[in-house]
Amino acid sequence: MVQKRAEEAAIAAQAGRLLAWYDENRRDLPWRAPPNTAPDPYHVWLSEIMLQQTTVATVKGYYPRFLARWPTVGDLAAATIDDVLHGWQGLGYYARARNLHLCARIVAEQHGGRFPATEPALRALPGIGPYTAAAIAAIAFDRPSAVLDANVERVVARLFAVETPLPAARPALRRLAGLLTPEARPGDHAQAMMDLGALLCTLRTPSCGCCPWRETCRARLSGAPERLPRRTPRAMRPRRHGVAFWAVRDDGAVLLRRRPPSGLLGGMVEIPSTDWRDRPWPPDSAVARAPAAADWRLLPGRVRHAFTHFSLELTVARARIGACRREIDGFWWPVARLDEQALPTLMKKVVRHALGTDGGASGRKR
Ligand code: ADE
Repeated sequence: MVQKRAEEAAIAAQAGRLLAWYDENRRDLPWRAPPNTAPDPYHVWLSEIMLQQTTVATVKGYYPRFLARWPTVGDLAAATIDDVLHGWQGLGYYARARNLHLCARIVAEQHGGRFPATEPALRALPGIGPYTAAAIAAIAFDRPSAVLDANVERVVARLFAVETPLPAARPALRRLAGLLTPEARPGDHAQAMMDLGALLCTLRTPSCGCCPWRETCRARLSGAPERLPRRTPRAMRPRRHGVAFWAVRDDGAVLLRRRPPSGLLGGMVEIPSTDWRDRPWPPDSAVARAPAAADWRLLPGRVRHAFTHFSLELTVARARIGACRREIDGFWWPVARLDEQALPTLMKKVVRHALGTDGGASGRKR
């Protein structure tokens, strides 16, 4: 018992060194409140929703524009969903934009325009899961919530040399992250952990020489910090198959379609395709499902993509579409301006394959 308390006190002492490092080295991010300034919970919430599944570099571009257009949660709540979806274009994952708008309305109408401060109350709002609730509680309200993203997991696994592979190690990492969280400045501590993981304690080549924890980090003392965290290899994913239809008009427009609002890649723009099923598609039955009758030619090679629960192999069929008699499901968009569409990664691969700019990466024979 006494030994455990001593261990916990030693861990808590580490937090001070990290905060001193953060005060010197913190990243200047547009959603961060300047030092000694109270953060605006709306800013914190907005940035955390944007940062779900999107990189810091991308969010740095979007966040200031979004905030200039809707400076308060009340302004966002009063916007139309179409305006919000349009403002979100480029960040992808339209289900997130819908939840963002719904959440703004609930905060404006049911919470008097103030975000709740506790994790359970935050989690009751649309689009806020356990990670985001902990991040908002810590950063916006200075609550001692342990905020555990992949960067922070890596830092904690190395500091304490946790050998259990992820994801089984997560409860232990959470407990240790909790012990590290100080009573003073827990919000800065959460952001300091993020910065340490992003700036120094990187995946492949950590810069241990500059780390505030270089004297105590057990992974560093072992001589091979990049070995941790360990990870249990994923079980083989089932494979699915589909055929994507690259339909081009004479004016250089390609046929796109928006996916249904919920489910995989909900609300995102895609190249139309057959269903994705367990068996490969014989060419005739695939072409029978094309968005328009045309002279469809299958391109050599495949586009491969790994989703969390399955892997997908798409063949791409290409055709020129002349004047069409029947209505086609979807919309036409200039190929030259495809970068303005927020296509999911899979669909970007399809575009590169159809245009022959993937350098044969998808197994295309030249
Ligand atoms: N990733 C998720 N939340 C973040 C934040 N507040 N700052 C930097 N990176 C983040």
